[in-house]
Amino acid sequence: MIDELLRIETDVLLRIGLADSLDAVKAVEADVMGKKGSLTDIKKGLGALEPDERRTVGLRVNDVRAAIEGAVADRRAELEAVARAARLDAERLDLTEVIGRAKRGHLHLVTQTRDRLEDVFVGLGFTVSEGPEVETDWYSFGALNIPPSHPARGMWDTLYLEHGAPMSTLLRPHTSPVQIRVMEQQPPPIYSVMPGRVYRRDTADASHMPVFHQIEGLVVDKGISFADLAGTLEAFTSAYFGGSITSRLRPSYFPFTEPSAEYDISCIFCEGSGCRTCAQTGWLELGGCGMVHPNVLAAVGLDAEEWGGFAFGFGIDRLALMRHGVDDIRELYTNDVRFLEQF
Ligand code: DAH
Repeated sequence: MIDELLRIETDVLLRIGLADSLDAVKAVEADVMGKKGSLTDIKKGLGALEPDERRTVGLRVNDVRAAIEGAVADRRAELEAVARAARLDAERLDLTEVIGRAKRGHLHLVTQTRDRLEDVFVGLGFTVSEGPEVETDWYSFGALNIPPSHPARGMWDTLYLEHGAPMSTLLRPHTSPVQIRVMEQQPPPIYSVMPGRVYRRDTADASHMPVFHQIEGLVVDKGISFADLAGTLEAFTSAYFGGSITSRLRPSYFPFTEPSAEYDISCIFCEGSGCRTCAQTGWLELGGCGMVHPNVLAAVGLDAEEWGGFAFGFGIDRLALMRHGVDDIRELYTNDVRFLEQF
């Protein structure tokens, strides 16, 4: 029996060592220690032995059993470690491969457009200024010659914030308040453009977003005339769009300029002959402009007898869309890489 035990031990330990799965280990275990297992058989046979021999064989059975249990536990731990490593390996993301294949990121179309506009205006001798997006009623309207309850307030569907007195704090609906801040911060002469984000109580559709971008321009100097405004916008138009595109001004109304005008450019698609984009007019509306109103100069303590100026403002997003022939402003903000990567 002792020999038989030795044979079982050697055989089983070898089989456990060779078992290549947890199920295989379990099967070996059952073959030895299960109800009909080889070791179980020997244990069953102990009763028929002489007491002395029973003790010797019994002890030996316990040793063999302990050795097998130890080997089973070790082999199980080994196989579990291998399985865990395989699982981790399968879950691993090979980022080197993704980086190798992916395109490099780039600036968003609106940012690119803003950068180019800044470059062109800097080339014309302008500085670039910025102002806060959370504004007061005074900077957004009051100082711009739009007193409370003025009907022109309806031109801006303003989003108000719950801060301070009712309707005193808001998300700026245009970049014009930055004109006031620039005039307060520096003495004239001023030649500055002010790009930035603006907010309106608008529902998103193909041509509106509640958040979009504008660029404002302001010149304050001595002896500035409407011809300077027209000439500056014309110089900007050909510098930004190319020499074949021209500008025109049409009479309009804004509370902060007098006289005021709409600034149009000849259609960049048909160059003036009439197409779908310009509704057969040959012109595209870009924004508003005019001569700074004396009340606006007075609001920042400038003498309108001594100083004069012009201002203009237009949408950056709309410009980006027009330039690339995109017909839905929402495309800019849904962050679909297939759209964005084209620019
Ligand atoms: N702030 C105007 C708007 O949001 C645009 C504008 C018009 C700006 C005329 C100006 C200007 O500076 O002179 O509709």
